[in-house]
Amino acid sequence: MLEQLNGHDDPHPVYERIRARGPLTRLGGQWVTTSHALANTILRDRRFGVRFADGTYPGTPNPVSESFLELDPPDHTRLRRLATPAFGPRRIDGYRPRVEKIADALLDRVDGEFDLMTDFATPLPIAVISELLGIPDADTGDFANYGRLVAESFDGRTTDAANRAIDRISALFERLIAERRANPGDDVISSLVAAEQDRKLTVPEALSTLTLLLIAGFETTVNLIGNGVRALLDHPAQWAFFKAHDGIAPDVVEETLRWAPPVHLTTRLAHEPVSLLGRDIGVDDGVCLLLAAANRDPEVYPEPERFDLMRVRKPEHLAFSSGIHYCLGATLARLEGEVALRAVARRLPDLRQAGPVTYRESVVIRGMASFPVSRS
Ligand code: HEM
Repeated sequence: MLEQLNGHDDPHPVYERIRARGPLTRLGGQWVTTSHALANTILRDRRFGVRFADGTYPGTPNPVSESFLELDPPDHTRLRRLATPAFGPRRIDGYRPRVEKIADALLDRVDGEFDLMTDFATPLPIAVISELLGIPDADTGDFANYGRLVAESFDGRTTDAANRAIDRISALFERLIAERRANPGDDVISSLVAAEQDRKLTVPEALSTLTLLLIAGFETTVNLIGNGVRALLDHPAQWAFFKAHDGIAPDVVEETLRWAPPVHLTTRLAHEPVSLLGRDIGVDDGVCLLLAAANRDPEVYPEPERFDLMRVRKPEHLAFSSGIHYCLGATLARLEGEVALRAVARRLPDLRQAGPVTYRESVVIRGMASFPVSRS
């Protein structure tokens, strides 16, 4: 069933067919869950990890397969700890004026018909994460393409173009690491260089950490912004309400993350035999956690298929996962989403869709490739 999915079609009918088979079902050689409670439990259960029990990587290597996203403790703990200070809530809130400036500068440039993805949703998170990592403007131009190519390699499609993109990102970071060694600053690259000099991580680990932060930092947020604007335009009464009360921007972000999450699924592997709901999961068995389906679990959210900014009962969705791999950039992503959606509501109140959208290929990272809109 899951192999029927592509990046274009609405996957929720397939998720509902899987839900009908029960909270934990076997499908195409792996376990699958659509249940919010069960997905949350597995993500927090230390008997599961992201590698095989012997520590080997389970898939085709990709640019972040050696990063802490794809590592179990103790390496995960050590490397995540080194990146964490840059993403704390106080530090991130200090970025708000910068993010607002970036959003405004991008909207200053749009006129008449434009592509919301190319002209706004993509460049905003790229500018933000580049600044946070200390990447000079001159190097950010090609990132949108790189990111897309690298993200496609997460689906197991590694092309020559993707490999070239990965090489260029590595070369850029190698150069920046050398520069910061000579001339340390107040950015993430400098703090990783200092940690490397204290032998807390190796140079390859610093490189994969930076690649993870770069890719995770914009490949997902672009779709939070795109999916959020689309959901609003498709629900005119809620769009009107938001324009009149833009203080609810954080609620718009949370409902978008629940209803149209940028990341649809993740996988965990059992490190030891585990019994759950009367089913026996063997060592190294994979469990696919359908985060997007868990976010529409009717046991948790009444009328889950409705995009509804006025939800009263709203336990946290799983768009940022859960447990030890809970998204390190969640505070930053929420800030960017809030600023971007509020800026659109204030500055483009007459925004409307101006043509058919196209979708990205990926089934894991869901979003639009293009979204033609008109500001009047
Ligand atoms: C709306 C935007 C975003 C979404 C939906 C999102 C989603 C996710 C998800 C689902 C995971 C966990 C995957 C798993 O459990 O296997 C994750 C991990 C991660 N995210 Fe995000 N993310 C977003 C934005 C960001 C941003 C802006 C950054 C900043 C650099 C970031 C950095 C990371 C990192 C470093 C991890 C790995 C955490 C770990 O393994 O401990 N993300 N993200």
